[in-house]
Amino acid sequence: MDIRNKMRKGFAGLQGGLFSSVTKADVGSSFSQMQERGVTMMSWADPFFPDPSTPPHVLRKAMELLESGCMSHYTMPIGNAKLKECFAKQWKDRTHMELDAQRNIIITPGSDSGLLYAMMPFIEPGDEVIVPDPSYPSNFLNPVLLGGKTVSVPLCRENGFHFDLNAFAQAITPRTKMVLLTNPNNPTTTVFTRQELTELSKLIIEHDLVCVCDQAFEDSIFDGREMVSIATLPGMWERTLTVCSISKGMGLSGFRVGYIVADDHIMDVLFGGAVNVLGATGTLQQEAAIAAMEDLSFMDGYIQEYDARRKYAYQKLNEVPGVQMLMPESTFLCWVNVSELGDSTEIMQYLVEHALVACNDGKPYGPSGNGYLRFVLGSCGSRAMMEAAIDRVCSALHDFRR
Ligand SMILES: Cc1ncc(COP(=O)(O)O)c(C=O)c1O
Repeated sequence: MDIRNKMRKGFAGLQGGLFSSVTKADVGSSFSQMQERGVTMMSWADPFFPDPSTPPHVLRKAMELLESGCMSHYTMPIGNAKLKECFAKQWKDRTHMELDAQRNIIITPGSDSGLLYAMMPFIEPGDEVIVPDPSYPSNFLNPVLLGGKTVSVPLCRENGFHFDLNAFAQAITPRTKMVLLTNPNNPTTTVFTRQELTELSKLIIEHDLVCVCDQAFEDSIFDGREMVSIATLPGMWERTLTVCSISKGMGLSGFRVGYIVADDHIMDVLFGGAVNVLGATGTLQQEAAIAAMEDLSFMDGYIQEYDARRKYAYQKLNEVPGVQMLMPESTFLCWVNVSELGDSTEIMQYLVEHALVACNDGKPYGPSGNGYLRFVLGSCGSRAMMEAAIDRVCSALHDFRR
């Protein structure tokens, strides 16, 4: 019997590396084997990985809590009420929009599960989900897991990977149910402007669509750019689910705390299914997240660090003939065009062997990711290590060209 024949189509094609090797960063053994070989992991969007980086006040609070012996109990599946107050306050500070913390926020175990949960109530077999290309690989897979179809819409390369609104308009069909955005965008780092989000929201409203917007990288924006939550634009609140996380900007990925912000008519359904789908987020982690939210001053140093790292990578990588990258607008990532040098999969593999650096092939980030590599500049606790890794990449790319 082939048990996969009994599975939903969207799941039957998945491979986790048990029966054949996979090169995905998130499963399989290839990445842990690389780490054992001393390869610098610039493929894992995890600030300062693998070095210790918990802020001291958060670490102290977590130790105290653990010693209290009370952390072995459940928190309500919809999340810790005090933590929700912290997130609602931050939302108000950023958007000037008042939330009801206990009605408009649900805590999730990280934003990956939050993203899928945000889509689950809406996507039925055959529904189409519009996804900008390139974007986060899960955005292409999640609609398919739910029985829907991903429709990718290319971002405008010439315009720094901002929206091509005509392409969005042309992609809408009677089957379109949702627009799935990542803002700021992973991997391109684009921070979508108020104007382009407003234009897109008009299309979304005109065609009566739902919007899921992943804001996992909203904390790390450079050069004074404005971070606009599409949920706050006219007519969007009642049709938008915003998915957030403490993993990236706050560098607390291992805590597994994320949250969804939405109107109470949507949230009533998410609360109703929380125990079935999410279970509950870890009690200790939510309490430690409160400690982090109460003193976010550590994040100032992170943004300065990421700023210095992006400038270093921008200068060094653009000096390599045949290689181009734009200055990152946000995040600790960079998106590098190597298409003049050859196939991106081959180059990624070459860099593991010749530069001892693992990065991501652009192909899983959407059809237009072909010819690109993604580097996580925020990995490594020490800047010197990160710079040395970029230097090795540059020198290997020079040789690859020869
Ligand atoms: C754009 C984006 N969204 C969401 C996630 C998931 O993050 P987490 O589940 O740690 O919140 C990631 C992780 O890489 C990401 O890059």
